[in-house]
Amino acid sequence: MFDSGMGGLTVLRALARRLPYAHYRYLGDTARLPYGTKSPATVRRYAERAAEALTRTPLDALVVACNTASAYALPALKSQLHPLPVFGVIEPGAERVATSASGVGRDPVVLVLATEATVREGAYERALLARLPGARVFARPAPLLVALAESGDSSRPIADAILADALTIAPGASLTHVLLGCTHFPLFAAAIESFAGSLLPLDVRVVDSAATTADAVARALSGSDSASAPTASGSPSFEFLVTDDPQRFTRLGERFLGRLPAAVALVDL
Ligand code: DGL
Repeated sequence: MFDSGMGGLTVLRALARRLPYAHYRYLGDTARLPYGTKSPATVRRYAERAAEALTRTPLDALVVACNTASAYALPALKSQLHPLPVFGVIEPGAERVATSASGVGRDPVVLVLATEATVREGAYERALLARLPGARVFARPAPLLVALAESGDSSRPIADAILADALTIAPGASLTHVLLGCTHFPLFAAAIESFAGSLLPLDVRVVDSAATTADAVARALSGSDSASAPTASGSPSFEFLVTDDPQRFTRLGERFLGRLPAAVALVDL
């Protein structure tokens, strides 16, 4: 699995819960972080280098945990690495919105929160509209949330002010779904849900692309339809590679992974 930094640990955390018997090699490209403000060609180049570094040793699957890299590089990586299964985070998030939209009783109104580059590329809109042609989709960059998640400062007034701004969309648009289209945003899922009944409709659904990706990968790799339950017992093992400052990755990574990332090695791509 790779990500631009430590945010992808939210995907790893969710996947390790669903496939606990696996070995996980995670590359955080912390020297080049953030990807979310870079140009398409740069994101593609970085993603290809990260994938190249990871595939030097045998893998059963590659997960592009970064939304920005999934938006720009997934088709190229899939064809370059064929027949290795390569998973991105965008399709599973869109699929979950589509599944849950059938129970809403009106055309879905979806707000996608993502990085500037992911929003610019439009991959979430395409994936959503392909499944839900009647949907209204709003996409907003929320770079301050990325910075806030990494700062380690979870003080509610600051997070609430940034979230309130991000959640305020076209007047009169009553959201049915908020899709968290960035690795860092699952950290704010509960805070976003707490706006239901004030800024958001009471029955709004918050869809987390980390959890939905983990479900899709677990389903594909275990050959099982029930993604939510672990398919075998055991404990996962981890290996962490970063391109800058292992200590900072370890310190900040705990918030995203839910445990201290141990044995973090520095690599050059
Ligand atoms: N991992 C990125 C994403 O999910 C967020 C951080 C960055 O901009 O690199 O889009």
